[in-house]
Amino acid sequence: MSGINENVLMPASIRMLYDGMTIHDDIYDADSERLLVRAGNTLNADQIERMQRLNNGRDTIYVTGRTHKTMVSKRPNIDIDSIAEVEETTGYVEFKDTAMQVLEGIADKKDINQDALNTVASTISDRVVSTPPDVVMSLINSMAPVDEYLQRHSVNVGMLSGLIGQWMGLSKEQIDKLSLIGLLHDCGNTFMPPSVLTAPRKLTIAEYEVIKMHTVHTNELLASFPEDVRMAASSHHERVDGSGYPKSLFGGNIPLEARITAVSDTYDAMVSKRPYRAPHSPFNVLATIISLTPARYDTDVVNALKEHMPKELVNKTVTMSDGTIGIIREIDPDDIEFPRVELSRSVVKTSPALYCVSMYTDD
Ligand SMILES: [Fe+2]
Repeated sequence: MSGINENVLMPASIRMLYDGMTIHDDIYDADSERLLVRAGNTLNADQIERMQRLNNGRDTIYVTGRTHKTMVSKRPNIDIDSIAEVEETTGYVEFKDTAMQVLEGIADKKDINQDALNTVASTISDRVVSTPPDVVMSLINSMAPVDEYLQRHSVNVGMLSGLIGQWMGLSKEQIDKLSLIGLLHDCGNTFMPPSVLTAPRKLTIAEYEVIKMHTVHTNELLASFPEDVRMAASSHHERVDGSGYPKSLFGGNIPLEARITAVSDTYDAMVSKRPYRAPHSPFNVLATIISLTPARYDTDVVNALKEHMPKELVNKTVTMSDGTIGIIREIDPDDIEFPRVELSRSVVKTSPALYCVSMYTDD
């Protein structure tokens, strides 16, 4: 991480300490006042337990940038930040690989592998309802390589749609369907010219018209799927005010699954790093989606998002606009874009001058 002042104390999680970890600098308690362990110590399990006691069971400790780097880069066990390990243990890697194979199969002009898709969609759906929502959100919010965008986006939209379905109290059958639609919604993109899809600039009007055709291709590719799945997947760019495409459908004429997919698609696309722009923070994206509701997005869908998503982001680590690392402590429902973040020694209200750039992950 560049930009971190290695001498400044920053908050960290006590869960990031591990047996055998060498401490470069003194570590302080949750009030950043009491010394918990001196520089030069190599931690063992007893010392970690003692630190937990001295910290009165609180999770926050204060460390320097140098010690923090050790915590996140050398920690051997899966805990809160190692997204690669979370991806492995939750099955995400397998979902992503299957999505890539299916998309490559389509790009090669072969048929869609429906069996593989149905299996992975129902596994994603099972996993979404059985995995803590904050872990699902961490998978979606992680900073992924740009060249894996389409397969990750397909899986992420399937997962987020499933999560929103759950938050809205939909049936497991509907959640299964939402996961499948998420996986399929952008399959028409395999017909798009890569030079346009990955252009590191704003598209021309003509190029944008070409890109809009991916929904038509999705519709054609899904000819052998149930009509409701086909209709919902190809309608994910419709907007409730009729401003979307390809058919400029209004409100309730857009299937509910498509209104949910529209929100998941927008969310995941905006938090992702793209060739033409940096990622937006989840807080910025949530605020944007809320500001465009009820005009563009469905009110019930966005209300579910607004009610449930913020609490899954609390206590997560974020990278700040000045390069430091903080922990989300409080999100005001009326000002989601600027949460209160624990930074060195204090909790501050973020603002346009100092804001969250992205969720922090170590890889
Ligand atoms: Fe799309």
